[in-house]
Amino acid sequence: MSALDKEQDNRWEGGTPSAIALVSLDACQAAATSSLADEGRLANYRATTLKVRYKMTMVKVLEPLISEAKKTGWASGLGSLNTVRLEAAGLGLTEVPNRRGEPPVTTLRPLGREEARKNSLSARFGKGEQPLHNDGAHMEHPPDFVVLGSETTSGTPTRLWINKYGGAFCWPPQYVLHGIFLVQNGRDSFYSPAFADGRYRYDPGCMIPCDARAREAVKFFEGAADSAVEHHWDAPGKLLVIDNRRTLHARASAADDPDRAIQRVSFRVKGEQ
Ligand SMILES: [Fe+2]
Repeated sequence: MSALDKEQDNRWEGGTPSAIALVSLDACQAAATSSLADEGRLANYRATTLKVRYKMTMVKVLEPLISEAKKTGWASGLGSLNTVRLEAAGLGLTEVPNRRGEPPVTTLRPLGREEARKNSLSARFGKGEQPLHNDGAHMEHPPDFVVLGSETTSGTPTRLWINKYGGAFCWPPQYVLHGIFLVQNGRDSFYSPAFADGRYRYDPGCMIPCDARAREAVKFFEGAADSAVEHHWDAPGKLLVIDNRRTLHARASAADDPDRAIQRVSFRVKGEQ
């Protein structure tokens, strides 16, 4: 690593910037290369770097994926969750822990029924195939976007479903809008339909149907699994951005993939539903 590379690394590790501006990585690399010619130019480069101390040079990863996910339900790309988190801060996205007291980034591993948390999907389905669900369905305000990332490959795909006709997002049947579920979350349990205000809330691990329409809704989501699309973790560093408001997802059976490790971070978008 050159002196300039080390210099650049140290800048980025020096602390969290108060604001993030996305500037051209090519321009920065060009400056770095030419600056290697002599110490004077290296000093100039340092000065320039200081001027943009609170601007971060990075390739846009999250923003285009969020933009695409808003249109299509989900989007896939390459990158690290660290980069995603940094960029998310600049985009005004708020990290949402999946459970109170949990860190914002969690590693999802296949768990047997006996080792899983109560009311979790793993407690009901173990390492087998999961049903379609939204993350954070037990929360009053579930996350808007869920970002999954894997540093390695996994033979267990993530299944995705969105209710679309042609290119347009469709509202679900009336019984999905009006069937009532008990959402189990300890003393914070509450009643809710599986679709309201333009977004789904569904997780059979923590939601119990309370009436005939809700039981119809359960069948609706079970049937939706037939038209789910698979995202394959077939390259290291893959990212999957899911619009958690309109897209349901599920892990395929991981019974033969005990070492699967997918990282997750979830976000809420201020001012959007
Ligand atoms: Fe999930």
